[in-house]
Amino acid sequence: MRTRDIGLVIMVVVVIGLLSCGKAEPPRPAASGPELYAYITRDNPYQKWQMWPGKAALYTGREPHGALLTTYVTDEVYVAVQDKKGSIPEGGIIIKENYMPDKTLAAVTVMYKAKGFDPPNNDWFWLKYEPDGRITDQGKVQMCIDCHRERRNNDFIYTSLLR
Ligand code: HEC
Repeated sequence: MRTRDIGLVIMVVVVIGLLSCGKAEPPRPAASGPELYAYITRDNPYQKWQMWPGKAALYTGREPHGALLTTYVTDEVYVAVQDKKGSIPEGGIIIKENYMPDKTLAAVTVMYKAKGFDPPNNDWFWLKYEPDGRITDQGKVQMCIDCHRERRNNDFIYTSLLR
């Protein structure tokens, strides 16, 4: 190869690299309430994500979360639900906004599949916060686990069957 060709090849590689960098999401956060909160509100704002497959904004919810729900998911969650993959892959984040019947936001509940965080309970990190951002529950939250455990054959997920 001539020097000029090598230069061209390097340029093409650099341009492709830059293009793919621009699209890359920031790496997923540590299993920590404040870091997860910063990730979903600042680094990778969840309102830009896709909604749960088949669910539009403000769908009718069951007990105990809220009369109306809007649920956002990361891409790997979307694919796992859509294609009935049996479980949610590591790194997946589910964000559910819980609204009162008059459509005021009551709270936000989050499930984050964090590798190695809680193997007996499928590595889910649980988070709940108020509309003003105040975190009320985080980590291995027994109350969340106890109820969602009824769906342990479905990776602790209620909204859709994963197979
Ligand atoms: C008493 C049972 C119960 C408790 C306690 C509970 N959940 Fe849920 N959760 C549900 C049900 C039922 C749904 C499905 C909601 C619907 O479609 O109306 C759900 C749905 C969810 C979802 C959407 C993903 C899914 O599983 O379908 C998230 C996220 C979630 N809950 C987070 C939490 C967090 C965080 C806590 C604890 C702070 C919690 N939940 C406590 C029953 C519970």
